[in-house]
Amino acid sequence: MRQHVNPLSKNFFEINPIPPLNNVFENPNLPLHLDIGCASGDFLFELALKNENWNYIGIEIREKLVFNANLKMKNREYKNLYFSFGNANNIFNHSKNKPLIDSCNSISLYFPDPWFKKKHHKRRIIQPKFINLLSNSMRKRSLIFIKTDVKELFDYMECQISESPKFEKLANADFKLNESFNPNKIQTNREKYVLMNQLTIYERIYMKI
Ligand SMILES: C[S@@+](CC[C@H](N)C(=O)[O-])C[C@H]1O[C@@H](n2cnc3c(N)ncnc32)[C@H](O)[C@@H]1O
Repeated sequence: MRQHVNPLSKNFFEINPIPPLNNVFENPNLPLHLDIGCASGDFLFELALKNENWNYIGIEIREKLVFNANLKMKNREYKNLYFSFGNANNIFNHSKNKPLIDSCNSISLYFPDPWFKKKHHKRRIIQPKFINLLSNSMRKRSLIFIKTDVKELFDYMECQISESPKFEKLANADFKLNESFNPNKIQTNREKYVLMNQLTIYERIYMKI
């Protein structure tokens, strides 16, 4: 079983801002997707190869995973993929990253750590401050995708996001899969495990209004 990292530890206070997009992508003008808590990055490696008309950034708090993902990047040339190490809350809070959040088309939070104990809820990625930050920095019509197999965590995330007047639930009819960051419905590693074990997936898409 893996050891969870405490995102509130002061080890994560200092972050390296993500470089300007024209330094990391061959074509910085492509639509941009950010995946928060990308773990080993397998999901993003597959997305980046299948959808060369999108740019992808993965954010992960476990340094070793980002180190390994960056090693993998050296084996093959990815023109549309970048990994950033750190606590997503601190990365998003950095003033130099504001333009990045503003330029992204969508963000995914897939199967975030549930931190079951009540005293640990403050370690969950989605917090009122985080949603406030997103609501002030994301551009209109950009999307947030959430998925989890933990109903209590889903209700918690749903409650935090719904409290913001700047996000609304996207109706199924308004979602255009072909125009999304994941038109082939590629699954994350956790999603594959959950589906294999026939557990329920709770998911929702929100749009910035
Ligand atoms: C349960 S795993 C899910 C991984 C992947 N999204 C999936 O669906 O397979 C959650 C991941 O989020 C990372 N994580 C947790 N808190 C984070 C934070 N504050 N910032 C960035 N990554 C975080 C964890 O280290 C872990 O790799």
